[in-house]
Amino acid sequence: MALKKKSKSSTAATAAGSSRPRHSRRMRRDSSSRISSGKPSSGPAKPAPRPTPAPATQDGAPVSPVKGYADFLSNLEKEHRLRRIPTSDGSGRIDLLSNDYLGLAAEAHLYLPEFHERFPDAAFTSSASRLLSRANRYHLQLEQYLEQLYGRPALLFNSGYHANVGIIQALALPGTLFLADKLVHASIIDGLRLSGADFKRFPHNDPRRLQRLLADLHDSYQRIIVIAEGIYSMDGDMAPLRELADLKSRYPKMMLYLDEAHSFGVRGQKGLGLAEELGLTDSCDLIIGTLGKAAASAGAFAITSPVMKDYLLNTTRSFIFSTAISPAQAAWSILMIEKITQLHDRRLHLQHLSRHMVSELSRRLNFESPATTQIVPLIIGDAAEAVLMAAHMAAGGFDALAIRRPTVAAGSERIRFSLNALLSEKDIDRLISLIGRYR
Ligand SMILES: Cc1ncc(COP(=O)(O)O)c(C=O)c1O
Repeated sequence: MALKKKSKSSTAATAAGSSRPRHSRRMRRDSSSRISSGKPSSGPAKPAPRPTPAPATQDGAPVSPVKGYADFLSNLEKEHRLRRIPTSDGSGRIDLLSNDYLGLAAEAHLYLPEFHERFPDAAFTSSASRLLSRANRYHLQLEQYLEQLYGRPALLFNSGYHANVGIIQALALPGTLFLADKLVHASIIDGLRLSGADFKRFPHNDPRRLQRLLADLHDSYQRIIVIAEGIYSMDGDMAPLRELADLKSRYPKMMLYLDEAHSFGVRGQKGLGLAEELGLTDSCDLIIGTLGKAAASAGAFAITSPVMKDYLLNTTRSFIFSTAISPAQAAWSILMIEKITQLHDRRLHLQHLSRHMVSELSRRLNFESPATTQIVPLIIGDAAEAVLMAAHMAAGGFDALAIRRPTVAAGSERIRFSLNALLSEKDIDRLISLIGRYR
């Protein structure tokens, strides 16, 4: 079997890459030894790059402008990295692809009667950005409900992607440095790039290296915003949040930005996330929660201070210039979050399944996974093998995703098992046997 057995630690997965060919990258990339910035350099002006001569066919006619894109796709295919939207609904197979961690989406039909009864007038469109339309009570109710749960103001966004890209861009006033964990999600990387601010990425879950950066750079900036995730979506491990909160108490210019996309619904007594579980919500200047994963809805929210809420709704372009989620979506989110707060037994079961899977992978297959949560990666280290392995899983009745570059670093290609609380220990045992039969 071509699995990477007993791999020690989390792999260098990164969401920073893109599928664009290297020569077309316009942003400077970070390296571990320097700070990257999207700002124009103040050095001497460089000569403008010479345009690439237009290619021509043999008879001299210009090559189709689409050809480059087609060639790019062929290369992806050769490298076993071509993505396709699945056409099979996978019925009959167990779903280990989706982020429906509590099984709420699978049971959505059970909640529809209550939804229609309680929210009969919730419209399916907002028709405008919230700043350009009348207040809708379901948007307000959802924000008020989140505020009541977290004890601090909430602001809704259309998705986690909108939230991260827009908020990070908005936070980048002059004098701002971002320090982001090496494995943060692509939406955070895109926000950093768009922000034009200085940013640096620290080794994954390494608060000591982060501390050194804070010590070195504290005097050079007005604020240093540290970005981490409650649960990392590709390695399935958690942020060292206690250590991050401790650093914040030692470095007064530090702000803490925590993306709880994969921990909202899943961690904490009420399911509010890792910060709730550790009693550290007040240490986070911003908590991002997404509603399209465990919450079985769509959209996202930011939890922050009153000042920052006002600042964000005045400056965040993805909030200002995009039609808001529909009132129906907001109303459905209220219902789903109510359920989430009551599903602690499912959270505990999910944690049990994850521990069982990780320990059985080690005991039966001699394979170490970095996972400590419901996301359990099986690092394979080769794109073609990962695709074959995913096909083997599907043939054995489990839908699981092969994750390849650019979502993870080359050499750390993997199968990502996304567990949910509707599974049983028996399902996990069957899954491990199936993995063991892969040759
Ligand atoms: C950590 C993280 N943040 C944000 C997002 C984007 O959230 P959404 O799917 O709501 O756009 C994702 C998506 O997977 C994610 O993993």
